[in-house]
Parts: sequence; structure tokens; C-alpha cells
Amino acid sequence: MCNVCSEENQWLADKFTEALGEFDEILTGNFYITIMHHDAHVDLINEDEENDPVFHNLIPWKSVVFPIFLSDNADCYTAFMDQRRIGYAATFDRLSVTDQGDSSYKLFRDYDGFIDINGNPLPSTNDSPGWSEEKYPIIPKENFSGFSEEAIFKQRMGDVMVFDACQVHASCQLPGSNPHWMKNGMNIQFYKTVT
Ligand SMILES: [Fe+2]
Repeated sequence: MCNVCSEENQWLADKFTEALGEFDEILTGNFYITIMHHDAHVDLINEDEENDPVFHNLIPWKSVVFPIFLSDNADCYTAFMDQRRIGYAATFDRLSVTDQGDSSYKLFRDYDGFIDINGNPLPSTNDSPGWSEEKYPIIPKENFSGFSEEAIFKQRMGDVMVFDACQVHASCQLPGSNPHWMKNGMNIQFYKTVT
């Protein structure tokens, strides 16, 4: 939990409200440092968290990622997909090849329930548009089937990446860029209150 909404941080809460609209005072997040690409996933509440009274009456709304550093001369990107999925935190791994299975995220073998930005259903498979092995070195083409890229953001200090909490995203590497990196950043999850 973080205390963006505490009295001394009101100026910060006001900034977020200006950018995102109203949000619940309960926020979660994490601080990460990694040298590894990440599989396609959604950062939502997991099953254990759903049973925590803190999360009753809350629905995940926006994720905000703050890049903090990136190793020298490196290039690092995140692809945000057209696909959203309402449900638990999940890693999409149709082929059972992920080495990121030891998290609290559900591993999805059968993709389903994708919707677009307006809530319209999307198919669970397609011909993997935008995929190449160089671009998605840890995601096989068959695991990418069902996804299509909405936007690709570069890890750049001073920028902030804002996306729907239920939006599928994955690391990617653009052609000719330096894939040997270490990055860190902070992710804050914003929630809406439901009554
Ligand atoms: Fe994520």
C-alpha cells in the first residue's frame, strides 16, 4: 500500500486526479529491478487478494509505471496490446513454456475473455500480427496468438506510462536496439470504488 492520499502528499493526489479522474485512496504497487523480458500478462488482483477485505468494493482501474533507471546505452520497450481482460492477475502461456510461473499470477493456457478498449469481445486467437522472434524473444508465436499491439513505449526516465490495469502488456525489443539491459521502476495501481 502507498499513501499518495495522505495529507502531506495531497499535491500529488491532486496531480493524479487531474490526469486520471477520481480514484480510491487505497493504492498498491511495487518496485522492480530486472534484466529479463516479461511474458504477456495483466497486473490485477490475485485470488488471495480478492479475499482481503481491503479490496472489497474496489476494481482495478489504471496502472502507472515510473521508469527510474536503465543501464547505459540500452534500449528497453513495453508493448501494450489491444486486448484487455477482466479477471485475476494472469500470465498468458498457451504452450506452458514460461519460466515466470512462480508468481501469484494465474497461468492461462486457454486464452479467453479478451475485450477491446470499449468492452467489445475480441477473439482468443489470431495470426500473431506484429510478432517476430527478435521483437519478442521469450514469447513464441503461438503464445502471442490472440494479441495485437496498441502501442509500444520506450523506457525513458522522466516519462510515465499510464495504461488500463486490465490491459495485456509484454516486454519487447525493437530491431537494432541493444537488448542487454537492467531496468528499474515503480508501478502504482489505482482503483475505482464501487458501491
Ligand atoms: Fe506489468
